[in-house]
Parts: sequence; structure tokens; C-alpha cells
Amino acid sequence: MAVGGFAVDGPVSGAVNGKITASVVITCIVAATSGLIFGYDIGISGGVTTMAPFLQKFFPAVYRKAGEAERNMYCMYDSQVLTAFTSSLYLAGLAASLVASRLTAAIGRRNTMVIGGLTFLAGAAINGGAANVAMLILGRILLGFGVGFTNQATPVYLSEVAPPKWRGAFNTGFQFFIGIGVVVANCLNFVTAKRSWGWRLSLGLAVVPAAIMTIGALLILDTPSSLIERGKVEQARQSLFKVRGKHSDVEAEFAELKKASDVAKEANREPFMTIFERQYRPHLVMSIAIPFFQQVTGINIIAFYAPVLFQSVGLGSDSALIAAIILGLVNLASILVSTGVVDRYGRRFLFMEGGIQMFACQVGVAVLLAVTTGVSGDKQISKGYAILVLVLMCLYAAGFGWSWGPLSWLIPSEIFPIKIRPTGQSISVAVNFATTFVLSQTFLTMLCHFKFGTFLFYSAWIALMTIFVALFLPETKGIPLDSMNLVWEKHWYWRRFVRG
Ligand code: BGC
Repeated sequence: MAVGGFAVDGPVSGAVNGKITASVVITCIVAATSGLIFGYDIGISGGVTTMAPFLQKFFPAVYRKAGEAERNMYCMYDSQVLTAFTSSLYLAGLAASLVASRLTAAIGRRNTMVIGGLTFLAGAAINGGAANVAMLILGRILLGFGVGFTNQATPVYLSEVAPPKWRGAFNTGFQFFIGIGVVVANCLNFVTAKRSWGWRLSLGLAVVPAAIMTIGALLILDTPSSLIERGKVEQARQSLFKVRGKHSDVEAEFAELKKASDVAKEANREPFMTIFERQYRPHLVMSIAIPFFQQVTGINIIAFYAPVLFQSVGLGSDSALIAAIILGLVNLASILVSTGVVDRYGRRFLFMEGGIQMFACQVGVAVLLAVTTGVSGDKQISKGYAILVLVLMCLYAAGFGWSWGPLSWLIPSEIFPIKIRPTGQSISVAVNFATTFVLSQTFLTMLCHFKFGTFLFYSAWIALMTIFVALFLPETKGIPLDSMNLVWEKHWYWRRFVRG
């Protein structure tokens, strides 16, 4: 078995035979719907914060300023107050994701998803009925808590329930539902933007994805590993039967899970301390680097910039929205490509291919913008070139959709041993949110000053992360979670840490 170009020989575990059953497919689809709330919020908040009635009511100063804004396509929406409002969710989510590691260990993955869904639902209701900025911010904080909990618990849930051989495919479901949330929200904004109370509807309707995922989570059982860890051994066996099939022989897998849990219990140390031990250095580095790199691919910047660009070439707000929907659909389709190949060609292949593709597209966009709109961005880009930029952005979104999008949720959820798995995933979500926060606070100013150079900045990061993956990320496809230590032991660099 190839592991990052280095071989892991021989059987890795006796319990790797999980088949794909209807039950495991349904369970994982239901669990993955948790991604809907995160995606819905990403899609909705961008649109709502450009709706005039919303700005007039809550941010009148921003509204006035937007009217007088400099007509430069790089500087149209530069407002710190508004971005602070949008990104307050990420700060709340960051705090919640750290708490979530305790919660998932104590009450299970499934229950954490339920709590996340209910918190998000409350936030959506408050936002939909908001009468003042305080309500708006309170709602946003609750939404943040909600996604903090669900983004922590769901990827771990999926990785623990999926048959090891198809873990990658099952895990991509989470990113797929994030993508669906984004597209649905964009379409909804299109309709609501035309009404004065439309923003209420957009914000309030977040209760729908929240209800869908909460009800879904109530219908599924917790993961066998989590149940064993919490001493519910019989329920764990039932849960394993449920996902592997009534007539399967689950005893070997069950024994492996039990053994892993017993070993974890023996070392009764604080997980947030354990994770800093030398032997977990590779795991820790990945749980920080992977989500950080995901954000510095510039995905959210491209998603934000595509409609702005289209509006600035005079194609109107409808075509701006169409640009966003096209990008969203391309992204969705490409996640499905990832589902199909992630367990066949592996994570590393997708990271490399996606990285090279994204790099080329970002450089292409930067060059095209520099050549057509001039160094300061004052010249108008022609419609033909704008479409070419959109094509490049679509290719970029496809590259992201089959690499850094889904894999940034998958890798942190599959590399940790059970005792620090929730902690590792928490750190990963916290890093993702912290980076999103910093980038969203700074990128409008950056775009306004660096102009097309912004895209070169992100392409440099993409080059760096692709090299990082080539050198340091071992291949994890097909390896059962409880045998994952092997990939580090065989790795040319990390072996010195895990063997130490
Ligand atoms: C990222 C988000 C991004 C989304 C796009 C997620 O994996 O964490 O920042 O907006 O993908 O679909």
C-alpha cells in the first residue's frame, strides 16, 4: 500500500472489511446534512450584507459610504464594520469548536450535532426577527456556536462510521452539503433581494436547514467508537450492526474498537496536553496546517470577488448572481468527482492535482486582470475578458472542490487516535475559523490596495501548500482509523517523532 510514496506493507488490521450497506449510506448522508447550515450561512451573509434595506436599517453609515464609494472595481465594498459583523460568527464558532471536543467526548458525536443544530436554529430565529444590531449580533453568535459544534462533530462522525475502504468518499458528503447550502442560499438571495423585508426572510429561513439536520441527527445512532468510549458497549454493538448490516460479522471490528478505547483509557491524561506530546507532533502539525492552507487557497475571496467583478463590468446584479451560482454548481459537481476518486487515487493525488490547477488559475486571473484593467484597475474589462476570468475561476473552483474543500475536513478527522481525535478536530475547526476571520477582516483592504496582486498572493500560498503536501502528508486512503499510526511510522520525516 503506497503511503506518501513510501510503502506500508502487509495487513494493517483484521477488521477492515466494512461493506457498503444501505444503512451506512443513509446514516452518513443524514449526518452529512449538517454541512447545510455552514454552507447556508456562507451563501446568505454575503448577499444580505449588500441588500440596501438591510444596510439602511442596521448599518446606515455603511450604506451612505457605499453610495459615495470610489468607482474602482477592487475597492467597491471596503467596510470594516460590515466584515466585523459577518465574521463575528467565526469568533463564536472558534470558541465553540474548542468546547466541542469535551462535548463530543462526554455526550457523543451525534448529540453534539443535535446541540449544534438547535443552537443554530435559535440564532436563525433571532436574526430573522431582529429589531436592532444587538439582536443581530446575538443571533450571529448563536449561529457561530452552532457551526462550531457541528463542524467539529460531523467529520469525526463520518470518518468513524464509514467503512475504512470508502472513508474518503463518505466524508466528502460533508463538503457536498456545505456546497448545497451555499447554492441554495445564493438562489434565495436572488429572490429576496428584490423585496424590502427580503433580508429577514434570507436570515430567518436558516431555520430550515437547521431543522433538517437536527431532525436527521436525532434519527441516527452515535458512532460505535463514541459509544464504547462512553461505556455503552451493548449500544455500540447495535450501532455497528446497524451500519455494517445485520448479518455481518462485526466481532473483529468491534474487538479492535474496544481495544483502541481501552488503550486510550489507560493513558488518562488531559487530551489538550496529550496532543502536544512529541509522538503526536505530525498529527498536530496537520491539524493546524491543513485548515490554515485551505483558507489561504483564497476560496472565499474568489467566491466574493466573482459577483463584484461581474457587477463592475456593468453586467448588472442578476448576472453577478448568476456568476456566483455557476461557481457554486461547478464546485458541487467537482466534490462528486472527489467522492468518486478519493479512495481510489488517494488524498495526495487530489491535493497535488487540485493545487496545480488552482495555482495556474489564480496566476491566470491576476495576469488577465493586470493586462485588461491596467495596473491600478481603472480601465474597464471587456465582457469577453470578464467571461474568460469567470472560466478561470470555475476551473479554480473545480480544483478546490475536489481537493482542499472536502479533504480539509477529511484529513483531521482520520489521522488521530481515538483519545485525541475530538481534540484534533477541534483545533482544526478553530484554525479554520480563525484564519477565515483574519482573512475576511483584511481581504477587502488587501484587494483595494494590492489589486490583482491579491491573486498572486494566494497563488504563492497554493504553491507552498502543494509542496508541503508532497513532502509531509502521508497517504491515508483505505487505512483503518485504529491502524493509522503506521503511516507516520513509515514516513521519511515523521517517523523520528512517532517512534521516539
Ligand atoms: C470552507 C469554507 C468555504 C466552503 C466553500 C469549506 O470547506 O471551510 O471556508 O467557504 O468550503 O464551499
